[in-house]
Amino acid sequence: MQLPLGTVLPSLWEKAPLQTLLLLSAFLLILAQYLKKTRRHLNYPPGPPGLPIVGNFFQIDFKNPQIGIQKLAKDYGNVVCTYAGNLTFMMVTGLPLIKEVLVNQDQVFIDRPQIPIHFHVFKTHGLVMSNGQEWRQQRRFTLMTLRNFGLGKKSLEDRIREEARYLIDAIREEKEQPFDPHFQINNAVSNIICSITFGHRFDYHDSQFQELLKSLDTVTVLETSWECQLFNIFPWIMKFLPGPHQKFFREWKKLESFVKHEIKQHKEDLNPEETLDFIDAYLKELSKDNIHSSFNEENLVFCTLDLFFAGTETTSTTLRWALLYMALYPEIQGKIQAEIDKMIGHSRLPTMADKENMPYTNAAIHEVQRMGDILPFNVPRMATVDTTVGGYHVAKGTVLSTNLTALHRDPKEWATPETFNPEHFLENGQFKKKEAFLPFSIGKRVCLGEQLARAELFLFFTCLLQKFTFQAPPNTQLNLDVRFGLTFSPASYQICALPRVI
Ligand code: HEM
Ligand SMILES: *[C@@H]1O[C@H](CO)[C@@H](O)[C@H](O)[C@H]1NC(C)=O
Repeated sequence: MQLPLGTVLPSLWEKAPLQTLLLLSAFLLILAQYLKKTRRHLNYPPGPPGLPIVGNFFQIDFKNPQIGIQKLAKDYGNVVCTYAGNLTFMMVTGLPLIKEVLVNQDQVFIDRPQIPIHFHVFKTHGLVMSNGQEWRQQRRFTLMTLRNFGLGKKSLEDRIREEARYLIDAIREEKEQPFDPHFQINNAVSNIICSITFGHRFDYHDSQFQELLKSLDTVTVLETSWECQLFNIFPWIMKFLPGPHQKFFREWKKLESFVKHEIKQHKEDLNPEETLDFIDAYLKELSKDNIHSSFNEENLVFCTLDLFFAGTETTSTTLRWALLYMALYPEIQGKIQAEIDKMIGHSRLPTMADKENMPYTNAAIHEVQRMGDILPFNVPRMATVDTTVGGYHVAKGTVLSTNLTALHRDPKEWATPETFNPEHFLENGQFKKKEAFLPFSIGKRVCLGEQLARAELFLFFTCLLQKFTFQAPPNTQLNLDVRFGLTFSPASYQICALPRVI
């Protein structure tokens, strides 16, 4: 029996106008999604089936997203797609394919996707979230300015060594008692990028600055809350609902106000003869009055914020992993200290020139980064045009993640993938580079702070091990539990720093 639609609809409408309308629109939405999916190119990458609209959202375990989608690569291969809202996410696994997308096709995957929670904070400004001409100009200017302020030069090295001295003093004040090094390390690392961007450091007892570091930490953790992820699918609804995503935005606002305050002070104190830091250099660029350029106040704020955030969180998380691994592997710690004692001694602090003569220490730092694996899925990119990956059709707008965990634990690349073992980076006692080691990513959009981060890691790490031996507190078993968030960091731990007898 066929009912003429023309007679059914009006009568339904009379009986229950609102419910009907809602039901009908839900039905149409689902239908539209269904049609969209079946219309999909036959050669799209495989992936698990998902619900309409929300896609694979409810298949993700937010406490441990990594394990939640664990079997995907095993079940579907090295190119896997999942869906949420309007977005298609592609996960690429294995060195050959990662090189294919990040190196061979680096012009195709050069953009960042607009992730709603980030768009809400940054719009498309700054260094991390910008694209196209704006990104190119901001990145080039920032790299040039970082170089002018000592990246790769003695002056920056001296700043790091000076900061290491403050950190050593702060740790000595703990008097061998168990303590959580989190915020001292955070502060020390942050002071390096602060001295480049703002022109000064912050004392470890500065309670206002400690609050800001807490805000940085909070946004890192909240990023993966399910409310924030739901905001990514339904921003227009979640915007009006209370929850952790609102705290996420409030904390970012605090950080933004701090940066704006610093900029205001720099404007007041600006001396055209003297460029002391990144903000000064940017203000000078602004005064050039080029209407076609992307240099404006907004980009000044968000580039500075990006440097502050990216320059603090990542390196300090890595150093916290480093101390934990040292306490867990005392023999390896002992070998590093023996190398420090032999090549540097006790009367002076390490310099970057020492690195070349310290293959074991250098290998151990690389091994901390491999095992720590703090950005397991890299930072997302987006396809700017339709393309092909591993033989599959990939549509423009597809969000690309690369599975760095799989790379850093690939049994084909590492002798003992699950064990902390500096030998992975050694050959006949010499340091050996590994292609499958990509914590900073690769290609045109590679980490902008890689060189800075490497200098910080080497100098802070060797300075600390020159002065202290790190140990688990008495009767305590340390472990490698992970705190999930934007970065994967060690769960908070207490440690003892025993001064080394000189
Ligand atoms: C151990 C420390 C660090 C790690 C593991 C790390 C890792 C990364 C990764 C994986 C990316 C994404 C690259 C891509 O999309 O291919 C990135 C981007 C970025 N990093 Fe780092 N990073 C570290 C330290 C730093 C530092 C100290 C700074 C400060 C200057 C910094 C600033 C940035 C910026 C601005 C971007 C965005 C670049 C762009 O989109 O063009 N990072 N980082
Ligand atoms: C990434 O690789 C790790 C290690 O092989 C694996 O456990 C995890 O399931 C992978 N994640 C995805 C989303 O493919």
